[in-house]
Order: sequence, then C-alpha cells, then structure tokens
Amino acid sequence: MRKNLVVAIDGYSSCGKSTLAKALAKTLGFIYIDSGAMYRAVTLYFIRHHIDMTDPMAVKDGLQHIELNFHSRDYESHITLNGEEVSEEIRQMPVSQNVSEVSAHKFVRTEMVKQQQRMGKSKNIVMDGRDIGTTVFPDATVKFFMTADPKVRAERRFKELQSKGDTSTSLEEVFENLAHRDYADTTRVESPLVRAEDAIILDNTDITPEEQLAFALDKVNAHVPA
Ligand code: DC
Repeated sequence: MRKNLVVAIDGYSSCGKSTLAKALAKTLGFIYIDSGAMYRAVTLYFIRHHIDMTDPMAVKDGLQHIELNFHSRDYESHITLNGEEVSEEIRQMPVSQNVSEVSAHKFVRTEMVKQQQRMGKSKNIVMDGRDIGTTVFPDATVKFFMTADPKVRAERRFKELQSKGDTSTSLEEVFENLAHRDYADTTRVESPLVRAEDAIILDNTDITPEEQLAFALDKVNAHVPA
C-alpha cells in the first residue's frame, strides 16, 4: 500500500484532463504533473534536431540528449527541455501532429514512465495522461477516465489555440488531429489508451469545470484513507 496519494487521470485528447488535474491539485495541495507535456517536449526536440521519428535507433539515441524538468508555479505546470522553458511551444500544431508517433515508441515510453514513477514516489500528486492508471501507477489512490463528445473537444481546443494567437489552424484541422490522435493512442501496441478497470468514468460534455471538480473531489475524499 503506498503512503503518498496519487490521483491518476487518463482519457482522450482535449477532454479537459489538465483543467481537472490542476483544479484538483490546487484544492488538495498536491503537485500537478502533465505527463503529455513530457511526450510533447521529446517530440519538439526531435523536430528541432531533424531526428527521423520512424527510426527506432535514432529515437533511442536522441532520447539520451534530452533532460526534462517540471517547475510548478501557481499550480500551472511548466516544463523545461534541456533548461529551456518550452511550455508554450509544445502546444503548437507541429508538435501535436507528431506526438502520437513519438509516444508510440517503446524506448520513449520506458524512459518517460521511469521518470514519472520517480516523481510519484514520495509526494502527493495528480498526474494526467493516457496510461497513468494502467501502467505508471496501477496502484493509484483513485483513478479517473475522462471522455467528452469529439465535436465539443475540438471546439474547446480550437478556442484555446485561437486565444493563444494561432489563427492559421481551422476547426476542421483540429477535429482531424484529435481523431487521428484518439485512433493512434487507442490502437498502439505499447500501453494503449484504455480505461483501467477500477477507473471512475467522467464524461464532461455537458458539465461545467466547477461541477466536474465537485464530482472528482467527492470521489477522491471517498478514497483517501482516514
Ligand atoms: O495530453 P496531451 O494531449 O498533451 O498528450 C500529447 C500526446 O502524448 C497524446 O496524443 C498521447 C501522448 N501521451 C501518451 O502517450 N501517454 C501519456 N501518459 C500522455 C500523453
């Protein structure tokens, strides 16, 4: 039985995992870790260094030159890639278009999972991703599996990109990218996105962020040993 508490949040792309994870971490005083940011930062490194993402050996070699670190400020998670803050750049479309391919590599997953498990060893954390409740922390204190209508998810991500100044990506492109990533994430050989048997399903198509936080807090409190 683990002593520290781990809240694992998995689910499809852009269905509000990070919104819930940040709100839970803030309310509970836990550390928030965005595991997707790690796969995105690795992808950014490969793009910048023109590493052939279809070549497992090039991927394995590239990984050895990458150092990732998280810095938590105001419960926002900031990630550095070899010392450079890349939190904004990893959200842009070039990374989104390549991250599924990168995150399907065995070498990449093994290294990321190792680092994630280290982060959750002694501290109370909320971690979101695709395989947190199944592979990274199968013994998590409480697990959520999030889902939402694909159209609603695309609209949310589209608005987010626009608010960050990306006016060149259309709603259709965002929708296509999400559909592609859902397919790639659920069908890959290495730890595909799948609901852990003991994960609580949370469909937030028609509920507000406040309602989903209240729902999740209830469940976490019910799981925390007195
Ligand atoms: O959560 P996100 O959309 O930022 O994640 C980006 C990609 O990283 C996603 O398409 C799949 C991958 N990912 C993963 O394979 N495993 C995780 N634990 C987190 C993300």
